[in-house]
Amino acid sequence: MKNDIFLKSLKKEPIERYPVWLMRQAGRYLPEYRAIRQKYKSFLDFCKNVEDAAIVSLQPVDILGVDAIIMFSDILVLLEPMGIKVSFEAGEGPKLEHDFDFKSLKSKDISGDLSYVFELLKVLKEKSPVPVIGFCGAPFTLASYVIEKESSRDFTKTKVFMYENQKDFHILMEKLSEALVEYIDNQIKSGADVIQIFDSWSMSLSRFAYKEYVHKYNAFIIKAIKQKHPNTPIIYFFRGSSSHIEDAVDLGAEALSVDWSVCINDVCKRYPDLVFQGNLEPQILLLDKENIRKHVEEFVMCIPRDTAFVVNLGHGITPDVSKDNVKYFVECVKEVSYGKRNLSKNG
Ligand code: CP3
Repeated sequence: MKNDIFLKSLKKEPIERYPVWLMRQAGRYLPEYRAIRQKYKSFLDFCKNVEDAAIVSLQPVDILGVDAIIMFSDILVLLEPMGIKVSFEAGEGPKLEHDFDFKSLKSKDISGDLSYVFELLKVLKEKSPVPVIGFCGAPFTLASYVIEKESSRDFTKTKVFMYENQKDFHILMEKLSEALVEYIDNQIKSGADVIQIFDSWSMSLSRFAYKEYVHKYNAFIIKAIKQKHPNTPIIYFFRGSSSHIEDAVDLGAEALSVDWSVCINDVCKRYPDLVFQGNLEPQILLLDKENIRKHVEEFVMCIPRDTAFVVNLGHGITPDVSKDNVKYFVECVKEVSYGKRNLSKNG
C-alpha cells in the first residue's frame, strides 16, 4: 500500500493532511463507470462480476486521487443468501420478495453465496495503492428494505410493523445481525482494511425508537467484530446525526461518519476519543469551482487543529454532478488541508 493516511487518521496517528474519499465515489456520475455499467442489464449481475467490479472500485483512485477505495457492491446483496429475492429495476430502485416468515430466514453459513464479494476484496487488496473499505448495511437500514420491499420516503410500513409486531421485528433484527457478523468477519479475512456500516435510514427514527429498537443490534455487531478483529477500524455512518449522536458515540466504533445536521467543530471537541468523517452537503459538488473552493476552505478551517479527521460528504455523490467538479473538490481538500496541517506544525 503506497498511501495509508486514511488508516493513520482512523488510528489517530500523525498525518500531513486530512485524507479524503467520497461515499458513492464509484457510481453513475463517472462516464468511466457508465461505460462498464451499460454492459449489464442487471445491476446485481454487474456486482457479481469480480473483474468489472474491481475495475470500477479502483477507478476513483486513478481519476480523482482519493485516499481510500470502497468495494463495488450493494448493501442488499446480503439478503439473497438469507432467502430474500432482490432485484433492481431500471429507474425504480430495489424490489424485494419474501413472505414475512422471518423465523425461516437463514442467518448462518451465508458466506458461500457471497464468495464474489470476498473474491473482489482479495483482488482489491492486491491491486489497490490505498486502503480498501468493505461495507454492509446496518440492521435497521436492511430491515426497512425487507419490510417496505422497496425504497420508501416515510418508512410507514417499517414503523407500523416495528411497533405492532415487535416480536417479529426483533426476530428479523436478530437474523440480520447474526448474518452481518459472519459477513463482516469474512470481508476482513478477505482483505478489507476498514469496515463502514451504513445506517442510511436511521434518520427516520425518533431518539426513543433508535434507543429501544436499534441501538443494541449495532452494538452487538461491532462488539462481535472487535473481538475477532480488534485492529480493523469500523466507521458507523448514520443519518439524522444530530438526533442520534449521543447514542452512536458508545457503539464501540472508532469513527462516526456524520451528516450535515451536526457542526464538525462541535462534535470533534465534544467527543475527542472518536474520529469523525463527513459531512459536506453533496450539493456543494454542483457549484462552480470558485464556490467549491470557498466551501472546502471554510469547512477545513472548522476542523479543530490536531484532530484526526476524514473528509467526506454527509451522504453519497448524486449522479448529476460532473466528474470535473468532484476531481476539483478532492484537489482542494488536499491543498487546503495540507496548508492547514503544516501551519499547525509550525505553530
Ligand atoms: O462508491 C460506492 O459507494 C459504490 C458502492 C455502493 C453502492 N451502493 C452501489 C450502487 C455502496 C456503498 C452502496 C450502498 C447502499 N445501497 C446504500 C447505503 C448508502 C446510501 O446511499 O445511503 C443503500 C441505502 C443502498 C440501496 C440501494 N442501492 C438503492 C436504494 C439503489 C437504487 C437507487 C440508486 O441510487 O440507484 C441502489 C443501487 C445502486 N447501488 C447503484 C449503485 C452504483 C445504482 C445502480 C446502477 O448503476 O444502475
